[in-house]
Amino acid sequence: MMNTHYDALGHDGVLVPLHVLPEDLATVLDGLRRMRNLRGFIVTVPHKEAIVAFCDTLTDAAREVGAVNVVRREADGRLTGGQFDGEGFIAGLRDAGHEVAGRAVVMAGAGGAGAGLAFAFARHGAARLTIHNRTMAKAEQLAARVRAAYPACDARAGSADPSGHDIVANATSLGMKDGDALPLDVTRLAPPMLAAEVIMTPEVTPFLAEATKRGCATHGGKPMLAAQIPLLARFMGAG
Ligand SMILES: NC(=O)c1ccc[n+]([C@@H]2O[C@H](COP(=O)([O-])OP(=O)(O)OC[C@H]3O[C@@H](n4cnc5c(N)ncnc54)[C@H](OP(=O)(O)O)[C@@H]3O)[C@@H](O)[C@H]2O)c1
Repeated sequence: MMNTHYDALGHDGVLVPLHVLPEDLATVLDGLRRMRNLRGFIVTVPHKEAIVAFCDTLTDAAREVGAVNVVRREADGRLTGGQFDGEGFIAGLRDAGHEVAGRAVVMAGAGGAGAGLAFAFARHGAARLTIHNRTMAKAEQLAARVRAAYPACDARAGSADPSGHDIVANATSLGMKDGDALPLDVTRLAPPMLAAEVIMTPEVTPFLAEATKRGCATHGGKPMLAAQIPLLARFMGAG
């Protein structure tokens, strides 16, 4: 998607995949800083939170969320971390006709993507936000940070039961691999709830399939990325 976007802009650049183990992150970043033709890179699971400590500067959004999903390499090799996951997710929902303001949202996940979504839900006026996570202490900490930044949003850690919410979102990595557990209690899904997903592959995750089976509208992970492509490209100096 990024390379198609670069082509459309007539931009002389290319995005290539780098596979990096957590224990190699520092070494790889040291090399990337020295690459004089590198404009930046996109950061994904599981590095979004760990990379914060390696950035020289953070945008306000990255600092607020505590996670980075894109890094710009400045001419002198300094690294500036940015964060667009949450804005991309909300923009994708809006493009599909789903409004967040005033709604009650429950989400699974409190990692890098989860933090981005949580702050964006609050920033865009969600009335209530329940965060469920395998490691509940992380959900509690995230909810407290969101509540402190956006007191108008009633953000709390909560159970896997989505009852009483309008939007039910998966922001964990559960559903990427065959045999993964479901992120939330899908037996409690019912219309008019909207089930929304961050995972792009498979396009229909078991969570979305269960929601469809129970008559709920669904929203897949692709629009979140599609909405971010121009923002990420501009952050790295194209367009
Ligand atoms: N569509 C898009 O544009 C887009 C953008 C960003 C990310 N994503 C997707 O979002 C997902 C999460 O990415 P991330 O960067 O947030 O990853 P991360 O920081 O590693 O966080 C992973 C999250 O999933 C939970 N989790 C992982 N394995 C689990 C398991 N076996 N059982 C229960 N919970 C589990 C973690 O819970 P704990 O805290 O308990 O470990 C945590 O909440 C990935 O699938 C990624 O591809 C999509």
